[in-house]
Amino acid sequence: MDAFLIQGNGPLRGRLRVNGSKNAALPQMAAVLLTDDPVTLRGLPDLADLRSMVALLDELGCIREDEPSAPGAFGPILTLRAEPGGDPHARYDIVRTMRAGICVLGPLVARRGVARVAMPGGCAIGDRPVDLHLRGLEALGAVITLEEGDIVARAPKGGLRGATLFLGGASGPTVLGTANVMCAATLARGTTIIESAACEPEIVDLARMLNAMGAKVRGAGSPRITVEGVERLGGVEHEVMPDRIEAGTFMVAAAITRGEIELENCPLDCLMAATEQLRLSGVEVESDAEGDGWRSTCQVRMARRPKPMQVTTHPHPGFPTDLQAQFMALACVADGNSIITERIFAERFMHVPELGRMGARLSRQGPTVVATGIERLRGAPVMASDLRASAGLVLAGLAAEGETLVRRVYHLDRGYERLEERLAPLGARIKRVEEVK
Ligand code: UD1
Repeated sequence: MDAFLIQGNGPLRGRLRVNGSKNAALPQMAAVLLTDDPVTLRGLPDLADLRSMVALLDELGCIREDEPSAPGAFGPILTLRAEPGGDPHARYDIVRTMRAGICVLGPLVARRGVARVAMPGGCAIGDRPVDLHLRGLEALGAVITLEEGDIVARAPKGGLRGATLFLGGASGPTVLGTANVMCAATLARGTTIIESAACEPEIVDLARMLNAMGAKVRGAGSPRITVEGVERLGGVEHEVMPDRIEAGTFMVAAAITRGEIELENCPLDCLMAATEQLRLSGVEVESDAEGDGWRSTCQVRMARRPKPMQVTTHPHPGFPTDLQAQFMALACVADGNSIITERIFAERFMHVPELGRMGARLSRQGPTVVATGIERLRGAPVMASDLRASAGLVLAGLAAEGETLVRRVYHLDRGYERLEERLAPLGARIKRVEEVK
């Protein structure tokens, strides 16, 4: 297993290009199942989760048609074509390593009339139920059963039919659930209205891709999405949007090391809650006003200790739960007491005790953590437990005094492509080492 060895040092300075978005790419790859024509995605990062999705799609009868630059190479361009009538079974072996495997459920049942997808199970940040996905598909007429740990969805005779449905749950809308129902509705008979749809930018990007395939989706990015079903969808070439969470992580890297980073290909318009919070903490975030807000160039600069912050995670356009751990690392060195509340995944606090090992003064009560800022964290061996928690620990290590060993970086590798190689040119002293057990 790999680990990162980090020597905390001075400010990070330089330029970084934000990669394509993992969370946008996953449902877009699954949408390949909606057509028999080839689908090309551009701007994909080389990440373990995307490779797992390719492996899953391969099992479901999708053929890779691009010519990789080297055997086994992945990204940035991928062309897939779904063979008609392939196996509709997404097995547990793959779905358990990548929860987003659930994204194939909607496309499969819509196109093949039946889908069998292993129930994803729990993960480090909690139970992560899929009841809303199922409720949405049932509203379109699918009959859902649980068979040997697999969710089996069968379309009624004549196929799925449009419906008006409410997709909100106790914690608000569901991102991948919205993706699933939206994809399924593109091929349903009649009109579907999804109320309390997720407004995340990744849903907007998915709708753009589906519309380019011939779908009729309106309102993506708002809580009410309308989908008029069509007979068939065709192929498409689509450029995946940049990764807003990666961009936000780099912004915190500049802030926590009191450095200056220029970000290219930055989806600033999709990061307003996070940039507002950074500005309130004293971080300068500037951009070229002329550019496309989904692909801007921006400068992030910090010269002093951050002011304390109050962060509460919410569905988009609120503060993203996927940046909570990174902002907590920043709060650890703020000049005062910060309050961080998690409203999406109640158990998403695995980084709290690990940051504590680095000297952070954190106290948790239920969904809220109070961080009493200290001047400097101290390096320590810490263990990553989920993707974003790992990112928080790496950021803490960059700003800490002394050496930090972040163990189990395979979690981090699921969402950040070769992070150490990208941060090193900015002055970070970070290297990948083999973990000694
Ligand atoms: C996606 C993102 C993940 C992000 C999350 C919230 C991908 C691949 N992953 O995950 O990085 O942290 O959105 O922004 O895009 N819920 C239910 N029932 C359901 C589905 C969800 O109760 O059927 C609950 C969840 O437990 C959670 C909340 O709804 O409390 C939001 O989860 P959801 O938006 O579905 O997360 P994902 O789409 O799985």
